Amino acid sequence: MYDGGKIIVGLIIGIGLLLSPFFYNAGKALKPPEPELTPKAKEAKVCVASKEYMTNNHMHLLDEWRQTVVRNAERYYESADGKVYYKSLQVTCLDCHSNKTKFCDQCHNYIGMDPYCWDCHLEPKENK
Ligand code: HEC
Ligand code: HEC
Ligand code: HEC
Repeated sequence: MYDGGKIIVGLIIGIGLLLSPFFYNAGKALKPPEPELTPKAKEAKVCVASKEYMTNNHMHLLDEWRQTVVRNAERYYESADGKVYYKSLQVTCLDCHSNKTKFCDQCHNYIGMDPYCWDCHLEPKENK
């Protein structure tokens, strides 16, 4: 007679070992590339809003900037810490984040997204 319990435990361990490289690599592949900060951004230390807010909501902020500039001609934005910024994708965001390929694109490529903004707005010139 063989021991059914041991066989099952053995099978589970065996399958686990077989799959472990897969899970190991899957875990790695799921980690998005770290967006790089330019020296200028590092010097500024802060973005126009908290990092957490920017990571998750920069598209909403851009949308709000666009609406208020185009509809109400409101050109200035005051951040929570009282700094005033000129509301512009090109002149403000991409002044600090002038390394678009290593910053914006790094994340967007990872999720397979390509915002159409650059059909009209100028991308910064980078040394690629
Ligand atoms: C004055 C320089 C400056 C400007 C202007 C600026 N940023 Fe930032 N941005 C930073 C810095 C510095 C960080 C990192 C903040 C931190 O680590 O706390 C950052 C972080 C971010 C992040 C989060 C990155 C991550 O790793 O999750 C996004 C997204 C972002 N910025 C987009 C924008 C957009 C869009 C604009 C324009 C609306 C903008 N930034 C304007 C300096 C700037
Ligand atoms: C930390 C990663 C990260 C960084 C850095 C980042 N983005 Fe994004 N961005 C995302 C994600 C994720 C989405 C998509 C969210 C969704 O699908 O709702 C997105 C969406 C957007 C959208 C909306 C596009 C659409 O068609 O709905 C715009 C516009 C945008 N990002 C602009 C920028 C700009 C400009 C920069 C650089 C200044 C930037 N992003 C940097 C992660 C990032
Ligand atoms: C069809 C052309 C076109 C496309 C595509 C486009 N924009 Fe614009 N955008 C404009 C024009 C024109 C203005 C008005 C410029 C002004 O008044 O300074 C503007 C203004 C803006 C402004 C405020 C002023 C400034 O200089 O940045 C923001 C922010 C903005 N757009 C963000 C975006 C984002 C984010 C996307 C992509 C999701 C996008 N736009 C796509 C044409 C476009």
